[in-house]
Amino acid sequence: MENLSNEQANLDVLILAAGLGTRMRSNLAKVLHRLDGRPLINHVCRTATALAPRMIYAVIGHQGEDVKAAVLEELDEDHAKFVWQSEQLGTGDAVNSARGFLENQDSTLLILSGDVPMIRAETLAALVQQHHNHRGRGAACTILTVKLDDATGYGRIVRDDGGLFDRIVEQKDATEEERKIKEINSGIYCFNTRKLFATLKNVQNNNSQGEYYLTDVPSLLREAGEDIAIYHHNDSFEIEGINNRVQLADMERVLCRRVIKKLMLDYGVTFIDPKNTYISERANIGRDTVIYPNVTIEGETNIGDGCVIRPGTRITNSNIGHGVEILDNCLIIDSEIANECTVGPMAHLRGKAKMEEKSKVGNFVELKKTILGRGSKASHLTYLGDATIGEKTNIGAGTITCNYDGKNKHATTIGNNVKIGSDTMLVAPVKVGDGASTGAGSVVTKDIEPNKLVVGAPARVLKDLSEEDKSSSQSS
Ligand code: UD1
Ligand code: MG
Repeated sequence: MENLSNEQANLDVLILAAGLGTRMRSNLAKVLHRLDGRPLINHVCRTATALAPRMIYAVIGHQGEDVKAAVLEELDEDHAKFVWQSEQLGTGDAVNSARGFLENQDSTLLILSGDVPMIRAETLAALVQQHHNHRGRGAACTILTVKLDDATGYGRIVRDDGGLFDRIVEQKDATEEERKIKEINSGIYCFNTRKLFATLKNVQNNNSQGEYYLTDVPSLLREAGEDIAIYHHNDSFEIEGINNRVQLADMERVLCRRVIKKLMLDYGVTFIDPKNTYISERANIGRDTVIYPNVTIEGETNIGDGCVIRPGTRITNSNIGHGVEILDNCLIIDSEIANECTVGPMAHLRGKAKMEEKSKVGNFVELKKTILGRGSKASHLTYLGDATIGEKTNIGAGTITCNYDGKNKHATTIGNNVKIGSDTMLVAPVKVGDGASTGAGSVVTKDIEPNKLVVGAPARVLKDLSEEDKSSSQSS
């Protein structure tokens, strides 16, 4: 942007997030309710960050400490300041709580609502630009508006006979005639910071809710001869506010549908039943992967090309390679699965479990903080926790790593080409050397040397397999 004044060059953001959100009928503050797995406020913070403002201020009150923690998941402490609003007396009062920080700043203040989560950074950038360019000198206030078929609940934009901004009227204060107006206030605005705080002093609470409305500021500025601009936007989804759980569920559905459509059209992913599949906006899925009904993919999850994910599986914050087959009803959290692995049905991976290439985990197998080496298999009814397993090893049905002694967790290390017999208990800490083997039902309490076959409970050495190999090769 060319020839910006100080006021225009300095962009600060203020996010309103102190309200309880009465209409949610919840014990949880509204901005902490989750959309696409993240608190509403986190969506707004992430978008605000994309504009690279000087500072992001958040007005907090209800469950303020929790809201603060949520904000700090997205912003670093140098770029966030928190303003406490002790009593929730309205959006005007909320902004006024930041007076001490802001009233003497030469800056543009972009005000966002913690409960309007889908707004895009591109839209905000265009709003700020129009605010600065208005009539070649910039406006005192620019309001982001949109037209809605059903505007119920929103503040309406009243325009004068010449079509210019007159005032904002809240749903509860509007006449029958005013309620027919389809153009609504998004609750997102740009202000000249000094002018905003000078005018905010004159806002009264003589309205049906007895609140100090931020929405009264634009008309007061207009009456004082200042320019009020309107930035009219076309995508109403972006400015939808969440005030109740129906709106939250609707938004979740629309968002998910958009994500799936994009994955189908732009990324070549097949969905057998898109309406009954739940995919996070933050997930990446590769070409020719097929996703069956009732699959949920959450958080920062990456899935490669040519995978098949059967019904009932949930995958959260995990990385899946190419050509992976995940059978029905698996739960995969914080884990990694390399190319061409097979998982499930009914498998559970968690706590940074890692399957290396072409390994297999079968039904009723749980992996916790365990590495299963390349080409190794655990096909049935097994718990592997805190274990490192080498390549081409077979873990027999019913194997348990006994990793917990009641106080501490201990590691199990299993080498390459090992055969663990069915129902083996590996009492950790314990190591099993390369090429070793355990008989069915063994209880292993001591390390096993490479190439030894152990049996019994507790297991003792029966013979040396490498000696046997030698004698069998001699006899043949
Ligand atoms: C507000 C606008 C309305 C607009 C709508 C868009 C006002 C008076 N009305 O109405 O014109 O169409 O947003 O979504 O501004 N908050 C505080 N402290 C308070 C009150 C609210 O921090 O004392 C916060 C809330 O946590 C919320 C935001 O401000 O994040 C908006 O408050 P809300 O009560 O949802 O206002 P709306 O009725 O939606
Ligand atoms: Mg609202």
